[in-house]
Amino acid sequence: MTINEKITLDTITQTVINHGDHGKSHPRLYEIYTSLVQHLHDFVREVNLTESELQQGRNFLNQVSHHTQEIPTGEIHLLTDLLGISELVELLDDAHGGTESNLEGPLFLANAPERQMGERLGIDPEGDTLFLSGRVLNLNGQPIANAVIDVWQPNSKGLYDIQDPSVPQGNFRGRLKTSASGKYTFETVVPLGYSVPVSGPSGELLRLLGRHSWRAAHIHFKVTAPEYTSLTTQIFIAGDPHLDSDTTFAVRSAIVKLQKHESPEELKARNQSKPFYTTEFDFVLKPVTLCSGES
Ligand SMILES: [Fe+2]
Repeated sequence: MTINEKITLDTITQTVINHGDHGKSHPRLYEIYTSLVQHLHDFVREVNLTESELQQGRNFLNQVSHHTQEIPTGEIHLLTDLLGISELVELLDDAHGGTESNLEGPLFLANAPERQMGERLGIDPEGDTLFLSGRVLNLNGQPIANAVIDVWQPNSKGLYDIQDPSVPQGNFRGRLKTSASGKYTFETVVPLGYSVPVSGPSGELLRLLGRHSWRAAHIHFKVTAPEYTSLTTQIFIAGDPHLDSDTTFAVRSAIVKLQKHESPEELKARNQSKPFYTTEFDFVLKPVTLCSGES
């Protein structure tokens, strides 16, 4: 009997799964592949997918893989965010404690400018200045010195540097190290929430589903230290109108309240000419040993 004999609605799924070495060479890949095939076949059966709909799906996946001006790497990353898959993976990863992780998003850039403690991250004369500080700690509450904090955020108009040709590259991005007592502090602006790019196929999908495209205002962080698991996360600004409906489902408990300072004494102490804000956030890292699969 050849492998393709007696292919029926009842046998095709298992026949596909059996077509190969049953994971002998790559067991984890086979585990993922087998489950994916089963779920995809179940999905096709459940919705009774037509030839025309299958072709629309092919066209859609083809389009999201193409690079665009707004997202040079293509929309695959954005699509996984919009489907809640990125956040679901983060939720699964948070079982070992520490600060909740969160999705990286498609706009992280490696090699951000190195910043000194207290340095301002970017140029935005119309933005409200925010002084952000805190500590990097281990699970026992002890400080982690020389942890590297990589931060990136949009400006007060909701734009990242790579979306705004009027600002230098690296605007509101930076890498800084914690002090011997695990402290960090930097000066930035209060970020504005923004719409994810909607000119491509993912935006069309949102429109067809009646979904909005807005993200609540947030600041991205990647915190690393030797012998600790790297933490990628976001903090959200209390009061943002989209905290309850962020289109990437990323808002959880890391929401910071901003304290406004406007007295003449406070302005003088910080050398500011208009009201400014402060807030604090501590990052708690997990040791590598708690995380299976970490290298
Ligand atoms: Fe973002």
